[in-house]
Amino acid sequence: MNYNKKTVKDIDVAGKKVLLRCDFNVPQDKATGAITDDKRIRAALPTIQYLLDQNAAVIACSHLGKPVATFDSYVKKQAEKGKDPASITEEEWKKSLAKLSLAPVAKRLSELLGREVIMAADVVGPDAQAKAAALKPGQVLLLENTRFEKGETKNDPALAKAMADMAEVYVSDAFGAVHRAHASTAGVAAYLPAVSGFLIQKELEIIGGALANPKRPLVAILGGSKVSSKIGVINNLLEIADTIIIGGGMTYTFLKAQGGSIGKSLLEADWLDYCNDMMKKAKEKGVKLLLPEDTICAKEFSADAEPILVDSMNIPDDCMGMDIGPKAIAAYADAVKDAGTVIWNGPMGVFEFPAFAKGTQAVAEALSNSSAITIIGGGDSAAAVQQLGYADKMTHISTGGGASLEFMEGKELPGVACLLDA
Ligand code: 3PG
Repeated sequence: MNYNKKTVKDIDVAGKKVLLRCDFNVPQDKATGAITDDKRIRAALPTIQYLLDQNAAVIACSHLGKPVATFDSYVKKQAEKGKDPASITEEEWKKSLAKLSLAPVAKRLSELLGREVIMAADVVGPDAQAKAAALKPGQVLLLENTRFEKGETKNDPALAKAMADMAEVYVSDAFGAVHRAHASTAGVAAYLPAVSGFLIQKELEIIGGALANPKRPLVAILGGSKVSSKIGVINNLLEIADTIIIGGGMTYTFLKAQGGSIGKSLLEADWLDYCNDMMKKAKEKGVKLLLPEDTICAKEFSADAEPILVDSMNIPDDCMGMDIGPKAIAAYADAVKDAGTVIWNGPMGVFEFPAFAKGTQAVAEALSNSSAITIIGGGDSAAAVQQLGYADKMTHISTGGGASLEFMEGKELPGVACLLDA
């Protein structure tokens, strides 16, 4: 796939209406709806500011959460969860949608930009149409949650066209959603000249660069709970990396496959053969595949559980692996020390519990001390690096969880493929 795409600087946007797809899928407090982390809004600011400096009229749009766009589907979903369909009201459905309104994002964006952000009550309905038609250069309009339209996730051409009809240029800066072939992330590009914003440009340059032409040695650190969710990444990185470091919950399936006793640790029995195949393939390819020599385990999955240090191949029957041990930490830090590039996806242990965060912390520390290009995949690894206070020490923390994972899997990203080639 070609990642060399035209950017907002390669197209004339002066005085034009620009449909800007952002990823404003921000975390919110369940009770109050307050935005708890505005990183994704901040990440869109350079592109918005550039467009405004060019005197463009910005029609921003985004999804937020996973609203159910029709009452019928809402009833079906609730019934699947065991609710009596007869008891479900339209009012309840509307309330569920209201919770996912982008209005709080408009407010925050307006604070960050220091100018008014006009909020539309719909996506392509009468309010959005009227406000988009009246929008003047230098003004910002935010459409309502794109997933309130049932055509969004189906990539409905009629919806894509209706969105495109409001603007003259399409700019995508929603890196977190480029793995989705939706109307606002991909479909719309069929009707307008389509280019990337600065955020997508940066993600493509840094992650794409590390995958296509890495400064070597390339070390990939892969963690997280499940082997099954990392298959694509392991497969792809085995072709590219010099060293692959395994940590987190998926370690135990690898250890079991190697003949270890893993006690009550997380096991994906269906993937045992796969793990052995990967170990074999790594050997054949001359890729170093490192498993932790020692493990911190516990008798129960709890923040207060007593940490017990054991040999990774001999986890006691009544224990479960919770983190990598000190020998593993030393070996992993050593592997990172002379790396040219490090890609990290997935924590080394249960970092949410301080007693089991040492492995993840030590890896973050090793990365922060290394002169390598350090790239952190979005999602859990980004959260860990942030929570542990290493965020500003990394070269790049991706804003996309699923998107960065699919990128590292070598998959085509529909929200990138639809943009004009440079
Ligand atoms: C994300 O949070 O990873 C992106 O915004 C994509 O969201 P989605 O998984 O709901 O498509």
